[in-house]
Amino acid sequence: MTSELILGIDIGGSGIKGALVDLSIGDFATDRIRIPTPKKSTPEKVAAVTARIVKSFTSELGEAPIGVTIPAVVTHGRTRSAANIDKAWIDADAKKIFEDVIERPVYLVNDADAAGIAEVKYGAAKDHPGLVLVTTLGTGIGSALINKGILVPNTELGHLELDGYDAETQASAGAKTALDLSYTDWIPRLQRYYSHVEALFWPDLFVVGGGISKNANRYLPKLKLKTPIVPATLKNRAGIIGVAWLAANQ
Ligand code: BGC
Repeated sequence: MTSELILGIDIGGSGIKGALVDLSIGDFATDRIRIPTPKKSTPEKVAAVTARIVKSFTSELGEAPIGVTIPAVVTHGRTRSAANIDKAWIDADAKKIFEDVIERPVYLVNDADAAGIAEVKYGAAKDHPGLVLVTTLGTGIGSALINKGILVPNTELGHLELDGYDAETQASAGAKTALDLSYTDWIPRLQRYYSHVEALFWPDLFVVGGGISKNANRYLPKLKLKTPIVPATLKNRAGIIGVAWLAANQ
C-alpha cells in the first residue's frame, strides 16, 4: 500500500464530493469539497464538475489515479446502467470521458462497491474474515458483496425483483420518503428485503449504510434475521475513502 494521499471523488444525485484520503488511517487528510450535481447529470457535465474538484487539489496530488464513484454498473471503465442518473450514462465510455477532462488516470467504480470496501477495510466490518454484504439505503439501494476482503463488483441487489417490484422502489430510504412511510410502515419492507437477500447469499454480516443509517437504532434492532446486521460507521465518507483505497490497490 502506498503512503501518498489519494483523491477520492463520490458522485451522488445531489452533490459531487471530493477529499484527499490518507490510506494509512482510512480517513480524510483534507476538508471535503462539495459542488452540487448538475441538474441534467450527463457524463460531460458531471465530468466537468469533477475536473473542477480535481483542480482544487492539484498541488497535493501524486502519481496515483484518482478514484471516482458513480451510481451505475461499471465494467472495464464503461458505465452500463443508470437507475437514478441521466440515461446517457448507459454504455458511456465513462473512464475516458473523465480522463479527457481531468488529464490524469481515473479509477472508476460503483458507489456502493466503494462504500462497501471502505467499511471492510476501515469501518463496521474492519478485517472481517468472511462474507460481508454491505447495503446502502439512499435514493436507491446499493450493494457490495465482499468475501474475505475481496470485492465481487456490481451485485446491484437493489434491483432484485421482489413481489413484482424492483426492490429499491419499495424499500430504499428514497421510497420511504416518496411514499411518505413512517418507520413502522417501512420496517416490514426492510424485513422482506433483507430476509430475501439473506436466503440468497447467507452472508456472515450485513452492514447498512446510506444517510438514514444515522437513525439505524429506529429500524435495525426490529429486523428478525439469522445474520447480524449493523450500521455502517464511515457515514458519508465511505464512498470517498473506499474509492481511494480501490484506486491505490487495483
Ligand atoms: C444503482 C446502483 C447504485 C445504487 C446506490 C442503484 O439504483 O443501480 O448502481 O449503487 O443505486 O446509489
